[in-house]
Amino acid sequence: MKRLALILLLLAGLMACKNKEAGQPVEAKKIVIGFSQCTFEDPWRINMNKQMEEEAAKHPEVKLIIANGENKNAKQVADVENFVVKKVDLLIISPREAAPLTPAVEKAFDAGIPVIVLDRAIESEKFTSFIGASNLPIGEAAGKYVAEKLGGKGNVVEIEGILGATPTQERREGFHQAIAAFPEMKVIYQQPADYKRSPAMQVMQNALAAFPKIDAVYAHNDEMAIGAFLAAQAAGREKQMIFVGIDGQGEAVKMIRGGSLQATFVYPNGSAEAIQNGLKALRGETIPKKIMLTTTRVTKDEAPDYRGF
Ligand code: FRU
Repeated sequence: MKRLALILLLLAGLMACKNKEAGQPVEAKKIVIGFSQCTFEDPWRINMNKQMEEEAAKHPEVKLIIANGENKNAKQVADVENFVVKKVDLLIISPREAAPLTPAVEKAFDAGIPVIVLDRAIESEKFTSFIGASNLPIGEAAGKYVAEKLGGKGNVVEIEGILGATPTQERREGFHQAIAAFPEMKVIYQQPADYKRSPAMQVMQNALAAFPKIDAVYAHNDEMAIGAFLAAQAAGREKQMIFVGIDGQGEAVKMIRGGSLQATFVYPNGSAEAIQNGLKALRGETIPKKIMLTTTRVTKDEAPDYRGF
């Protein structure tokens, strides 16, 4: 009898095991997030990718795929279309330029994919949420800072970012609005260098050759401010002018502390907020249509603990 009971018990156990095996879910389905990044070329974007990956790693249910738009609109459009074909659960995009990327983003949104637009805007309301810092006030703050530093009078070289990207337009507009209050402040030379260091060196070489008196360089990002500084230094003129950039890049911050550059404005990338809010949207929560992030001015004495990326 005892033996029979034991055999029965063993059998029951075996059955239970089997049932458990059968009932066990195959690995839980992951939430696939496609991030269409416009370029991997500069420190700001590399840091953005890194922070996005770090945030995604905090959510084990998430699988993050980052596509490199290679700083080409057509490549980035193809990346977005590919994410739509793959039926990702969420699309995050930081578009290279507004107009060329708009139809692709609209297509994704119309296909029912929630879309978070980061840092650079598109020309449509067909997205779930935009997350970024306000560039108009950053441009204004840069303009005020330069005017103050120069005592309201001087010649400025402005090195612009990619012309079709919204931060470029807003950084330009804000700056010009601010210096309009100072009739003796003039932008004497204004050229795009696509947010890149070596084109900015070229632009600055041209400006230096054309203008014997330059008092300030306003660059739409730190990479270009560094490029302008290096060109001025090569011409032995870097001490005649101040250099102001945007981003809060580590290398620029070091140069500010050392007195080569004068100021930068921290430009947050919004990557962690994108993952967090995207997941909320996927859970059915309503998220704000616009999430605006704040900036900090960094000078030799301000924000002393800030190190940059
Ligand atoms: C990086 C970058 C940053 C800049 C931002 C503007 O690609 O150029 O330097 O702040 O994009 O969208």
